[in-house]
This record gives sequence, C-alpha cells and structure tokens, in this order.
Amino acid sequence: MSSLIGPVPAVAQAPAGASTAAAKPARKLLIRTWGCQMNVYDSGRMADILAPLGYAPTESAEEADMVILNTCHIREKASEKVFSDLGRLRETKKARAAEGRQTVIAVAGCVAQAEGAEITARAPWVDIVLGPQTYHRLPEMVARASRAAGAVIETDFPAEDKFDHLPEARASQGPVAFLTIQEGCDKFCSFCVVPYTRGAEFSRGPEAIIAEARQLAAGGAREIALLGQNVNAWAGEAQSGAKWRLARLLRELAEIPGVARLRYTTSHPRDMDDDLIAAHGDIPALMPYLHLPVQSGSDRVLAAMNRGHKADLYLRLADRLREARPDIALTSDFIVGHPGETAADFEATMRLVERVGFAGAYSFKYSARPGTPAAGQPNAVPEAEKDARLQTLQALLREQQDRFNRAVVGRVVDVLITGTGRHPGQVAGRSPWLQPVHATGAAPVGAVVPMQLRAAHPNSLSATMAHQESAAA
Ligand code: SAH
Ligand code: SF4
Ligand code: F3S
Repeated sequence: MSSLIGPVPAVAQAPAGASTAAAKPARKLLIRTWGCQMNVYDSGRMADILAPLGYAPTESAEEADMVILNTCHIREKASEKVFSDLGRLRETKKARAAEGRQTVIAVAGCVAQAEGAEITARAPWVDIVLGPQTYHRLPEMVARASRAAGAVIETDFPAEDKFDHLPEARASQGPVAFLTIQEGCDKFCSFCVVPYTRGAEFSRGPEAIIAEARQLAAGGAREIALLGQNVNAWAGEAQSGAKWRLARLLRELAEIPGVARLRYTTSHPRDMDDDLIAAHGDIPALMPYLHLPVQSGSDRVLAAMNRGHKADLYLRLADRLREARPDIALTSDFIVGHPGETAADFEATMRLVERVGFAGAYSFKYSARPGTPAAGQPNAVPEAEKDARLQTLQALLREQQDRFNRAVVGRVVDVLITGTGRHPGQVAGRSPWLQPVHATGAAPVGAVVPMQLRAAHPNSLSATMAHQESAAA
C-alpha cells in the first residue's frame, strides 16, 4: 500500500557525501538503497566513509566508478530486485571496461548478509559483498577488491565495532535526519529475517548518540528520527555506568539547540514502557506520531508469530498513548496470510483496525523467507486467499488514512519546510503527522512555519501560511 504517512521510499539515493575530497582523484559513487530507514542511514554513512577516498555521489551508473547496492531481504520480491539490478550492472561494467574504466560493484545490506558467497556465485562480476555490520571496513575492502582477482566478502557481526569505527563527521543531511541508535533484534518473530541479517540487539551509548545529534543539528537538521529495528528496546549504558531508556534519551535530545522535532522508529508493542508513553505527553518536540507494528489482530496468529503479546495489549497501548497525547497518529504494519491464518483470524485483524483507527499503515502478504520458522510450516494460506485478504484490509486502511487526512484540514499546524514545491512559488514541507504539505509563498528550508491546512489530496495536503492569513484578514 502506498502510504501518505509512511516515509520509507522504495529506492532512495544516498545523501551527498562530505566534501573533504578535494585533494583526491575525482571518482564517482552510486548507492542504491532498498528496505528500511536503517538502510538509508547506512547508505549515508557509507558515502561519509568513502568521501575521503575521493568518491563523490552520482546518480548515473554509467558515470559510477563504484556502485553499492544496499539491499533488503525482508520479502522475496525485495531480494529478487537485487539480481535484476545486478544483471543490468554487468552490461554497464562491460561497456566501461571497453573504454578502459574500472567499476567496483558492491552488494551491501541484508541480502549480502543472508546470501553471502551465493551472490558472487550467481553474479561473479560482483567485487565486494559486505554485511550491515562491516561497512566501516569499506576503504580496506575497496583497496583489496582493486588488487584481488576474486570477490571480497565480509559479513561479520557484531555492530559495536562498526559504530566505534565510523567517522565522526557526517555530511549535512538537510532539515530531516536519521540517526541509528539501536540495531538488531532478539525477538525472532516466526516470519522475519532481521534477527539473522542484523544480529543480536545492540544499543549505542547515549554520549555517542547525543554527540551525533549535535552534529546533525549544527549541519542544519531540525527534525531527527531515531532509528532501530527495535528502537524502543534501546537500553544505553552511559559512561558513568547509568542505564538509560529511550524516554530519557528523548528528553536529553529535545534540549539540543536547533532540534525542533524528534521521532523514533520502529517500535515493538512489548517495549512500550510507561515512561515512554508519558514522554509523548510531556516532550513538546516529540511529534504526535508513532509507528507501532501489530502484524495481526488475532491472538492465535500473534502466538504463532511469536510476537509475545495479545491483541488486547495493543488496544490498551493505543488508548494510553491517546490519553497522553490526544492528537497522536498511530500507524502500523500488517501481515496477512501467515501460515495457519483462518478467515476468523483475519476478521480479528479487521476488528482491531476498526477499533484503533490508523492514520496510515503498511500491509503485506506473508512471504516465506528461507531459514525462518514459519517457512517450514505445512499450513500455508493459498495465494488467492492472501490476495483477497490484503485487498480487504487495504481498502479499510486507505479509508482510515483518508479520514485522518481530512480530519486535520482546517487546523493551523507547524510545518517544517523541506524544499521548494512542485509548482513555481511553492514551498514543500511536512506536518507533525509526517504528511507532505505544500503551500504558496516563500520560507527558508529548515524553518518551522505555522500554516493553515486547506485541503487533503491523495498524497499530500495543501495549506496557506498562517501569517499571510492574518495579513489578509
Ligand atoms: N521491527 C519491526 C519490523 C521490521 S520488518 C517490527 O518488529 O515490527 C518491517 C515489516 O515487514 C514488518 O513489520 C512486517 O510487517 C513485514 N514483514 C517482515 N517479514 C515479512 C515476511 N516474511 N512476509 C511479509 N511481510 C513481512
Ligand atoms: Fe522482525 Fe519481529 Fe524483530 Fe521486528 S521484532 S525485526 S518483525 S523479528
Ligand atoms: Fe530490509 Fe534489512 Fe531493513 S531486511 S527492512 S533492510 S533490516
């Protein structure tokens, strides 16, 4: 489902690398990114690491001296895209070689972690395969790949090492920045590859996170999204030995000059502690928005999925979050057709959706992933049934999303300016609920401007600047 609220682009280009490259030979780097925001963050960090070697960003494969595919293994379709892209890159590499130009091709991310050497067996023109926890060693891998005949494969764990070795300097991210604070997952949901591709849960220390946030703010970031596969499981140990939870970290980050907005994603219902719920009511910079995947509304399916909670816990969390912050937008993820899901189970999901009322959601047909417990189960749901359930669910979710977008029309809200609009004389920005907003007028990127929301369109809201309103009145 294309979600107005959901910020995850299917393919995002890496942000521009740092400009410390002046003295080095000019080389071009193309990074293609699939999957979650953690991959988007990682792509930015890979650009940061390669910038001192002289790599400047490009969007053209023909121009690129190095291409990194930062991949996602979450569903079968996501993984297969990598191989079709690699097929095209083989031709590009050949054409460049005929002109005497070398091309280094690297596969990074979760497909690299899961499939490792199989990638180079299937696509021997790949030079480097690197897992999500090893990209701090990229410069060394690039050097080895340029010398070696065979591919360089690095898919070690754990994440500590990576964060210790990443460069401190980050290229400016613009007004909206991602900051990874937690990686990995110990929850082992029946259907999910993440515990295998990202490894065990690991939390970065608060000092390193705060330093990175200060740097982002100094570089112009006004909104910072804290990232983790289980971001609300974050438990950082300060240098003093004190143990911090996420609410405390959010309170500290809200004090950084320039930081106007905070978000965090993705959370697990089991880790929504009392202090974090309270934080939604008492930290003004924490945006009224929470992505809290539930996957199913059936207790039977939740148990089969090994989610570790019942539907009722989710409903209570939704109520408590709304008590703390009445205008909070809740979004979620759903899987239909998990092995063993009956028509009655699916009905329970529909009832949960009706009861909660979501501002947006991602919903997927269950996709069997090699090596996960659910993949071996005999009670698969037929494909046609999955399709039908997905359509029914998405129709309801779309209706709820439209209702949510229409409900905010008429309100005056703060809009963070992110760029110029599609039409001349327009600015583009985002609402507190992550909706894209466009308005006629001028305002600098990074400004937070009060606007009156005027109309809801399929993928955005139009607005007028509130000060123009009062000037006209
Ligand atoms: N850590 C997050 C989700 C990470 S994966 C959480 O615990 O909710 C993002 C989403 O992809 C999941 O929420 C789930 O809805 C979907 N997903 C994961 N594995 C899947 C599979 N095998 N088939 C279909 N959808 C899947
Ligand atoms: Fe996957 Fe479950 Fe971990 Fe989320 S909590 S990353 S769905 S195993
Ligand atoms: Fe995909 Fe890996 Fe993220 S599997 S969703 S890129 S953690």
